[in-house]
Amino acid sequence: MEAVSRDRMTDKARELSRREYFQMLVATGGMAALSACLDEQESTETQAVPQGDPAKRPARQHAWNAVLGEDEHGNLRPPAHRVLVPLNLVTDPNEDDSATVESAFRSLESAYAYDSEGLLFTVGYTPSYFETVGAESPIPAPTALTSDEDPAFDSFDAMVHLASNRPDVVLEAEEALLGAVSAPNDVEMEATLDGIFQRGEPRRTGFVGPGLPKSKGKAVGGVPDELPEDAPFFMGFKSGFAESQASEDRVTVASGPYEGGTTTHVESLTVQLKTWFEQDNHFQRVAKLFSPEHASDELVGNIGEKLGTSTGVAGDIAQQTSTDARNEGVIGHAQKAARAREDGEPLLLRRDFNTVDGDRPGVHFLSHQQTIADFVRTRKAMAGGALAGNGVGQNHGNGILQYIFVRRRGNFLVPPRDMRALPAI
Ligand code: HEM
Repeated sequence: MEAVSRDRMTDKARELSRREYFQMLVATGGMAALSACLDEQESTETQAVPQGDPAKRPARQHAWNAVLGEDEHGNLRPPAHRVLVPLNLVTDPNEDDSATVESAFRSLESAYAYDSEGLLFTVGYTPSYFETVGAESPIPAPTALTSDEDPAFDSFDAMVHLASNRPDVVLEAEEALLGAVSAPNDVEMEATLDGIFQRGEPRRTGFVGPGLPKSKGKAVGGVPDELPEDAPFFMGFKSGFAESQASEDRVTVASGPYEGGTTTHVESLTVQLKTWFEQDNHFQRVAKLFSPEHASDELVGNIGEKLGTSTGVAGDIAQQTSTDARNEGVIGHAQKAARAREDGEPLLLRRDFNTVDGDRPGVHFLSHQQTIADFVRTRKAMAGGALAGNGVGQNHGNGILQYIFVRRRGNFLVPPRDMRALPAI
């Protein structure tokens, strides 16, 4: 896309709706996509992006909830546009480099307000990073977690998760960090990551919100017509109900050198949407995503609008998962995952999003949890291995396993904000 001329992009803008056009630009990335995005915003006199103040940001990088909007029920609205920027160290870093990196992040915080109309972001570090700088890693290396996956692993050093309702903000922030834009949102960058980090692979992108999967589906193909117009996620239902999310406190590291931080796991999945929508009907989709009770009692509605802020899977429905497997021959994804709750609270704060990276529909399942072990435990509950052969198959009838393919995994330590620049240096 970098090589594609601006004129051709303008043609493209006419062909696609504005929204699809923005998603395409975020997925493409780079300076040409950024200037096309800014031109489009300017031509429609879109509101200016609010600038920010680093002093107004909280101590925890993952503390986003206080500034997210809410839907009509009170569930938090995740930021619509996302980029995961992988980074590799290109120097043997010292304390001066830490100060430079911190200054680059603070410049972004001055450029954009601390909310979804500005920029929310986290910076996380892999076990490879800690090995490179000669420190003991506070988190384990990623491994395969289920019997039928053979994923690639994130082995770059660091990752910045950029999130905003504004497509131009995620694109511009990415370019500014790496030194290609000197004054994002008219605020001078006091430093950049250039010379300390360079881009790694793979850059990942995505989107979440009512109507976005449908509009994007039209553009890439592989997304069946049955996907409801207003669904926020590719599989056709709402997700991230308030009651099924861990609190930010629950996922905060409670002690040790990174107290106040969190961990991130990213599981990149492709989703077989054709089979999901064309082989199964709405009843079966509800049974496999929520529970057989949700299907027979019609608890969900077309896309989850009947659920308010809670799926109601915790407690009885989660406990009867194996009975459902035997009696119904099908069990729900949410019902299985809820078996991993502790003291009634889920262990994961899910901030996942849809993607069409690689021109196929998928999900970058990004979650925060206090420890990577919390993720592993929940993911194993979701895999439901022990239930196989007891009315459901390893994948068949076993939640959504038949439709998802794990391509990649990565583990990250997200330090508290005051340690986010090259920890352990
Ligand atoms: C294509 C991939 C996925 C889709 C479409 C999906 C969708 C959903 C939906 C619709 C719910 C119920 C609504 C809600 O509570 O938000 C849910 C719950 C949940 N999912 Fe997923 N999910 C996916 C992958 C994963 C993965 C990889 C994990 C990792 C362990 C996971 C963990 C959970 C958890 C912990 C819950 C909440 C369970 C509880 O109530 O305690 N999901 N998911």
